[in-house]
Amino acid sequence: MAFRWNRGFRWVHRAPGVAARDEVLGLVGWTWLGLHVIRFHGGRRTPMWRKAILAAWLVACLIPARVPGQDELKRVMLEIYVPEKAQLLIEGQDTLSKGTKRKFLSPPLPPGKYTYTIKAIIPDPKGPRTVTSRVEVRPGDFESIDLRDAGERPIPDVEYEPTPQQVVDALLRLARVTREDVLWDLGCGDGRIPVTAARVYGCQSRGFDIDPERIKDSLANVRGHGVEKLVTIEKRDIFTLDLSHGPTVVTLYLLPRLNERLLPQLRKLPAGARVISVAHRIADIKPDAQIAVETELGVFDLYLWKAETLRGK
Ligand SMILES: C[S@@+](CC[C@H](N)C(=O)[O-])C[C@H]1O[C@@H](n2cnc3c(N)ncnc32)[C@H](O)[C@@H]1O
Repeated sequence: MAFRWNRGFRWVHRAPGVAARDEVLGLVGWTWLGLHVIRFHGGRRTPMWRKAILAAWLVACLIPARVPGQDELKRVMLEIYVPEKAQLLIEGQDTLSKGTKRKFLSPPLPPGKYTYTIKAIIPDPKGPRTVTSRVEVRPGDFESIDLRDAGERPIPDVEYEPTPQQVVDALLRLARVTREDVLWDLGCGDGRIPVTAARVYGCQSRGFDIDPERIKDSLANVRGHGVEKLVTIEKRDIFTLDLSHGPTVVTLYLLPRLNERLLPQLRKLPAGARVISVAHRIADIKPDAQIAVETELGVFDLYLWKAETLRGK
């Protein structure tokens, strides 16, 4: 494990470059080779087949572990909410960070699954309390974790962050939305995705959000664009929605772990339906299409899955 500084964020992880698998294979190989050398080497009576195996292992062990190219390496960014005065440890190391919202950036990592153990030590008049969470991530992920008590936490599972309009336009083009579609945006923010779908493609749309402020913004947006006949906005927890009938296009701008939690619901979508996620993967399911949209705020990745792909058919 190593701590280093990088552009104002702290990063925590084992040294990148050599995957754990390569390290283990190397160790097994050298041990095996060593044992054989001790047992058989030197004997003139060693059969040829043993010498051949020995030589093959020697060559295999001398081939250096493949170091992934720079373009294969990606960072993980974690946003962690803790009580103001909490001490935060990642992988057992004190981050020395301060405030309610803490940010961490990993070093560039080769593809694979990584688990971070995040621990907050919270001061309390009765003695410090410890809250621990484990988060599974892939390089390129952004995850947000809230270690505050339920009473201190805002209700939405992810903070409001609007998709730039340019990305909304690209997203609807990627989904090939038509007026026959019915689009549902799960966590609709100010309603810009359902409003744009109705305004540009004339399709029926629905937006769901758990935050009353976002519902107000969405309703104002719907009225402002005169699309009341096509767009409905509802205050709902998206994890209670039945997706088995209704939507033909579902849009998400959440987090990787929330997308994964939605998967059982998404798998009930009818054949032909499409799911588009802004910025985040859905589990390890390969998207049917993927584009990157450059904006003033940075590059936004858009992923599209057909309902059949999500069901594994
Ligand atoms: C990152 S914003 C995306 C807003 C909008 N979809 C867009 O792309 O511009 C995520 C939204 O999800 C909402 N949200 C978070 N958890 C939710 C939940 N469990 N049920 C409904 N909405 C939720 C938040 O209030 C927030 O408005």
